[in-house]
Amino acid sequence: MSEGGDLVARSVEARRQAAAPAATSMRDGFGRSIDYLRISVTDKCNLRCVYCMPLAGLEWLRRDELLSYEEIAQVVTVMAGMGLRRIRLTGGEPLVRRDLPALVRLLAAVPGIEDIALSTNAVLLEDMADELRAAGVGRLNISLDSLQPARVDALARRPGSYDRIMHGIAAAERAGFEPIKINCVVMRGRNDDELADFAERTRERPWHIRFIEVMPVAGSLEISAREFVSALEMLERLRGIGELEPVAGPPGNGPATYFRLPGAAGTVGVITPMSHNYCDRCNRMRLTADGRLRPCLFGDLHTPLRDPLRAGEPLEPLIRRTLEIKPERHWLVQGAASGSGGLVALSQVGG
Ligand code: 5AD
Ligand code: SF4
Repeated sequence: MSEGGDLVARSVEARRQAAAPAATSMRDGFGRSIDYLRISVTDKCNLRCVYCMPLAGLEWLRRDELLSYEEIAQVVTVMAGMGLRRIRLTGGEPLVRRDLPALVRLLAAVPGIEDIALSTNAVLLEDMADELRAAGVGRLNISLDSLQPARVDALARRPGSYDRIMHGIAAAERAGFEPIKINCVVMRGRNDDELADFAERTRERPWHIRFIEVMPVAGSLEISAREFVSALEMLERLRGIGELEPVAGPPGNGPATYFRLPGAAGTVGVITPMSHNYCDRCNRMRLTADGRLRPCLFGDLHTPLRDPLRAGEPLEPLIRRTLEIKPERHWLVQGAASGSGGLVALSQVGG
């Protein structure tokens, strides 16, 4: 081979290696590579979305049951050594936990962690957006189930939510968060008439709106049984307003499929936990606020890490074991609690 040809070959090989998964990678029993952890930092929330939490709230964890920020960082450090690269902070509502930016700073300093994202309802975001960004949050997902102020307040069952959420989103945009992903749980008779309005928004704003099929947990059974709208139906309705071009969508770790209206700044997408599960591409595990490592959103499989951690025991074997028991798929059935593993709300496991 000529010298030049050799150089080209080496550069191709170097690029191939750079793109290949890290030598240390966590694999589950089905060969899926797991490099993404969703961390619930609290089970509490300042809203009561109808598909999520009973109005009276849930039985909250006690303070001493929660992992401290240092403990969360210890778990992440062990997992990063095993191949973890990306993190999402969730709740409940993560911003109700005191000084969340302090946790972000701890996690951003863990070697190997490349990406920290946050899922929030944005109610408390206005005052925190800049600090979160400076601390190391790269990307935001914001829950917004309607564009109509009275509806947002009714769906969240907290008056004044709409204004605070809109101020929060504006602050996030000013702080330079990009892309901004909006999560909208679609329910028949409550907000399914707004699909086109949401999509129209993406013509001007670089929002990535993701319509989500409602999932059944004990607290959302009625809605799941009576108000479920499939992603197929959502897309059929969206086609009415313009040609949908399939696009790759914004960077992220999730299972959404995205489309763009002609010339639009943002995208619309669907997340189909019910009609098409994407378990075969699953890349994640979950850490609950009380320190249980869950291999799957649903079912009741988990490994308690908190007590072993506090006893100074090694975590790596427990994490390996959790990878080994990661199930092939979930078994959710629309309108039925079976398969959800006895969950009342997704806020208990970080959604
Ligand atoms: N079905 C679908 N999504 C849900 N979420 C919470 N509960 C459900 C449910 N039963 C998701 C929504 C919300 C986020 C906090 O969790 O996307 O925006
Ligand atoms: Fe809170 Fe999110 Fe549940 Fe709404 S969906 S009550 S914002 S945890």
